[in-house]
Amino acid sequence: MEKMPYRPDMDLVEVDMQTTETVKPEVVSSDWRAGLPILSGKRVALRELRMSDAPSLFAMLTTEEVARFISPPPTTVEGFERLIAWNLRQRAAGTYVCYAVTLQGFDTAIGIFQIRELEPGFGTAEWGFAIGSPFWGTGIFEESADLVVAFSFETIGVHRLEARAAIANGRGNGALIKIGAVQEGVLRKSFLRNGKYLDQVLYAIVEDDWRALREDKAPVRVQVH
Ligand SMILES: CC(C)(COP(=O)(O)OP(=O)(O)OC[C@H]1O[C@@H](n2cnc3c(N)ncnc32)[C@H](O)[C@@H]1OP(=O)(O)O)[C@@H](O)C(=O)NCCC(=O)NCCS
Repeated sequence: MEKMPYRPDMDLVEVDMQTTETVKPEVVSSDWRAGLPILSGKRVALRELRMSDAPSLFAMLTTEEVARFISPPPTTVEGFERLIAWNLRQRAAGTYVCYAVTLQGFDTAIGIFQIRELEPGFGTAEWGFAIGSPFWGTGIFEESADLVVAFSFETIGVHRLEARAAIANGRGNGALIKIGAVQEGVLRKSFLRNGKYLDQVLYAIVEDDWRALREDKAPVRVQVH
């Protein structure tokens, strides 16, 4: 997702570290609006964001190579705290989901996957992702993406999952293609980054294609706790 809906100026609510829901223990609810279930794979565990993720996400997602083709991330740890608080409010409102990527056995957030509704009811949604560059090319992305796509179709009820990637973002395009996203067109001059309008490729995965493809593959093992 190149254009993240969050903007710092939208965040009018002060972050209260004592009262935010992030201090609660792991979520066990099956209603994702009340709290995201953990998505557990072989090497990764995707979980709800917590306020304490701000420092590691700041370190992982603000490097030049990660940030160059996505909406500018916050520039401070406090900015990430506000972003996390905003994410949690949007999830509770049922319009937005953001998962932290962690490695099995470690709690540190090394990346994020975001999904937002493009129409009321979440039938069509857009996703985006960013992972710290030390973990690029390791398979962490693919495993996490499989879990997030399965969660989108099977739990949220998405039937069409869109993504946008700047044409110049070789890794982003390569990543989407390799997980089966279909290129549907070019959105010319659709993304403003560093004062320049960039062309983006529009990708989509539709539920029927995903289900058909999945029958040919080993099943994705999603453990929802
Ligand atoms: C997008 C992202 C999460 C993907 O994770 P990753 O670990 O780098 O992805 P992978 O290595 O599994 O897959 C990338 C693929 O693109 C290929 N690739 C790399 N550079 C490429 C280029 N310039 N052109 C085309 N393909 C390229 C890789 O070879 C790889 O394919 P392979 O595994 O078949 O060899 C990560 O690169 C990232 O966080 N990037 C910065 C944030 C970002 O741009 N997000 C928006 C994406 S739309």
